[in-house]
Amino acid sequence: MDAIRIVGGAKLNGEIPISGAKNAALPLMIASLLSEEPLILDNLPRLRDVQQLQQILSNHGVSYMIEGKRPGQDTMAGQTVHLQAEEIIDTCAPYDLVSKMRASFWVIGPLLARMGHCSVSLPGGCAIGTRPVDFFIDGLAALGAKIEIENGYVVADAPGGLVGGEFTFPRISVGATHTLMMAATLAKGTTLLKQAAKEPEVVDLAECLIAMGARISGAGTDTITIEGVEKLHGARHSVLPDRIETGTYAMAVAMTGGDVFLRGARAELLQSALDILSQTGTTVESSADGIRIARNGAPLKAVSVATDPYPGFPTDLQAQFMALMTMAEGTATITETIFENRFMHVQELARLGAKISLDGQKAHVTGVSKLKGAQVMATDLRASVSLVIAGLVAEGETKVNRVYHLDRGFERLEDKLAACGATIERISA
Ligand code: UD1
Repeated sequence: MDAIRIVGGAKLNGEIPISGAKNAALPLMIASLLSEEPLILDNLPRLRDVQQLQQILSNHGVSYMIEGKRPGQDTMAGQTVHLQAEEIIDTCAPYDLVSKMRASFWVIGPLLARMGHCSVSLPGGCAIGTRPVDFFIDGLAALGAKIEIENGYVVADAPGGLVGGEFTFPRISVGATHTLMMAATLAKGTTLLKQAAKEPEVVDLAECLIAMGARISGAGTDTITIEGVEKLHGARHSVLPDRIETGTYAMAVAMTGGDVFLRGARAELLQSALDILSQTGTTVESSADGIRIARNGAPLKAVSVATDPYPGFPTDLQAQFMALMTMAEGTATITETIFENRFMHVQELARLGAKISLDGQKAHVTGVSKLKGAQVMATDLRASVSLVIAGLVAEGETKVNRVYHLDRGFERLEDKLAACGATIERISA
């Protein structure tokens, strides 16, 4: 497997283009299953997870065409992809495909809504806790589906079609909100989803579904109302910018010092994280075109934070923020409230010299004056990138192994950082 080699010490200066959001792209691609007509997605990021989902969707019969680049088009620009599920040829999502990425389980919503039957393997994905699927099962049952678990598969039936119903999520779940919202678009009658996820990616999916003819109101609030329609049609939609990529580079600049413009980033998508970053002594300036992040000479201050569903501080930035706090003045307490096992980066950061003690769902990070390069490895996407952030300031060479995880969610990470002055390269296996 490829590795990334970093020599720490360089400040970051320049501009980084922000890609389309992975966590919006995946449900948007899955929405193509709901209609016979083409769904055209602009600004789709070039990521391993997107390729993986393409395979899964083509197994169901979705044709996938990437538009060629136009003359003069920026090579950094996202891709435009045409997805069309004219006919669903297979309603089974097999273990081999689904086990590689948890979000692929979400096909259960559209497949069931359109075909009245499907069987989907229980999911895999990043090893960050048990991540059950009970809300999906209970939610689809509330829309009239009969569901059994057989040989590791969730087998769902609604021979006469789904019917509108009411479901209150026991706790906030992004994936279950996406899935039930998609399923309800084709159900007979009205569905009420309570304590729904309010993440910007849920709003982006709702906007795309509305463009496809769905009747949805309240996305972005606690309660989403969906009035079922008979059919959805084709549409064109642009994937919103990636707030996690934005936050990751913002923390990288705060870590190394320097001055970088994150082009295309939208501050309102990650305001809580930007507020915390300002409190660390980092300059954050947002404008219509993006966000400027700078730290020139000011010391980094320790700031405590707890993760929370949107609009709170995102769990997907917890590892990156922890990397930043390893060099701050004082002790920061970082509390993880979403996933029960999302501190696997702690022992790897410790290999670079970080001082972190764990106490259940809390990590106490005491800043050190320097980190030292080492070989490190992580088993989840956001944890891997936290090691890159630490490597950018660690003295000497850091080698991040198992780059596979980074490629799942960060488009051309090493190119974007190298363009701003980082000494970073990919070592092919
Ligand atoms: C999505 C994001 C992921 C992010 C997470 C939380 C994508 C592709 N992934 O993951 O990057 O870290 O939201 O913001 O968008 N839960 C249950 N039962 C269920 C479903 C979830 O108990 O049926 C629990 C989970 O174990 C977890 C919590 O609910 O503790 C939140 O998970 P959820 O929001 O569903 O995460 P994902 O949608 O998988």
